[in-house]
Amino acid sequence: MNFNLTEEHLAVQEAAREFAQTELLPTAIERDTHSKFPHEQVKKMGELGFFGMMVSPEYGGGGMDTISYVLAMEEISKVDASASVVMSVNNSLVCWGLESFGTEEQKQKYLTRLASGEIIGSFCLSEPEAGSDATSQRTTAIDKGDHYLLNGTKNWITNGGTSSVSLVIAQTNVELKHKGINCLIVEKGWDGFEVGKKEDKMGIRSSDTHSLMFTDVKVPKENRIGEDGFGFKFAMTTLNGGRIGIAAQALGIAAGAYELALKYSKERKAFGKTISEHQAIQFKLAEMATKIEAARLLVYKAARLKDEKKDFIEAAAMAKLFASEVAMWATTEAVQIHGGYGYVKEYHVERLMRDAKITQIYEGTSEIQKLVIAREILK
Ligand code: CAA
Repeated sequence: MNFNLTEEHLAVQEAAREFAQTELLPTAIERDTHSKFPHEQVKKMGELGFFGMMVSPEYGGGGMDTISYVLAMEEISKVDASASVVMSVNNSLVCWGLESFGTEEQKQKYLTRLASGEIIGSFCLSEPEAGSDATSQRTTAIDKGDHYLLNGTKNWITNGGTSSVSLVIAQTNVELKHKGINCLIVEKGWDGFEVGKKEDKMGIRSSDTHSLMFTDVKVPKENRIGEDGFGFKFAMTTLNGGRIGIAAQALGIAAGAYELALKYSKERKAFGKTISEHQAIQFKLAEMATKIEAARLLVYKAARLKDEKKDFIEAAAMAKLFASEVAMWATTEAVQIHGGYGYVKEYHVERLMRDAKITQIYEGTSEIQKLVIAREILK
């Protein structure tokens, strides 16, 4: 598999790096401390084309490949995973899902605005009692002829308070189990749609996570994605792609922490020399660099397979599992290398460590990734 980056890839990588350093870094700590959503920065990310990177230009997107997308995700996540999760959900779960399975009318009405960053979207699968066990949907979408009547609660929804359009998974026919589930496009502001409390989180604190409540929300039939009963397959297929985005996010968090630790180790002196001259630190740096490079190759492999329209389910799950485990471990090592300075906010690594944790949880926990991988290899 060829992982050589083209001139275009390098340009995207550079643009993302530049944006992250100049527009995200200066406010990252303050936004994290006060759980402030990066409204201004998200607007600029949309203008720069970071919100519909893989969407065809016909629908207002950048028409780029998945490698470009993971390169941008890595650079932005090195600095601010709160901003990159907004981008990841919009690109991989909302835009990619709509472009792959939406009708022409749905694409014209919603995708064009989502891809340009004019509005952002959310993906609503999880519920108070349906996290890993995603087929146990309690939210219902009852068929009323020309519309569905939507009732229920969704939990931990990224972009929950800021999204204008939500893709909501709900059960229409209980007897058919997962084959009776639908995905509906729901607009903010419709009667009966209420945004619940904002979560006070350990990490990615500048992102916007809410519960969403639906009480007799009338959703027109033309807002269903795919055939009747396609909703669960839609969610699973979309999440396969989404996991590449989160794997790239985890990779970025790990790489960001590593770069900070490397720089710090060359500046900080102990016992008469820089700590980078001590073998104890050298071994940490060597192991971090190796694991991060291995994670990067898994992420690129999954992205490449997706671009080549080959089966990427196993590769995406492996990339997400490995990269998120590396992120948690490498950020902890980065804090250790910084010593006492690593434990205070000013040096960023404690934030990266808190942010890393969620990559082992959302879009399928590490345990779910192992289940997906095992099912693929035992097929
Ligand atoms: N790709 C495509 N289809 C899949 C699939 C996959 N990876 N995994 C399962 N399916 C399909 C199966 O083929 C089956 O369909 P058919 O009957 O038509 O063949 C159907 O889905 C049901 O599959 P299972 O019988 O295997 O269902 P299960 O209940 O045993 O397991 C699961 C399913 C894999 C555990 C699934 O529930 C799962 O992935 N859970 C994790 C949910 C998750 O990732 N949530 C993340 C929330 S979104 C989020 O975090 C976004 C954010 O805010 C950042």
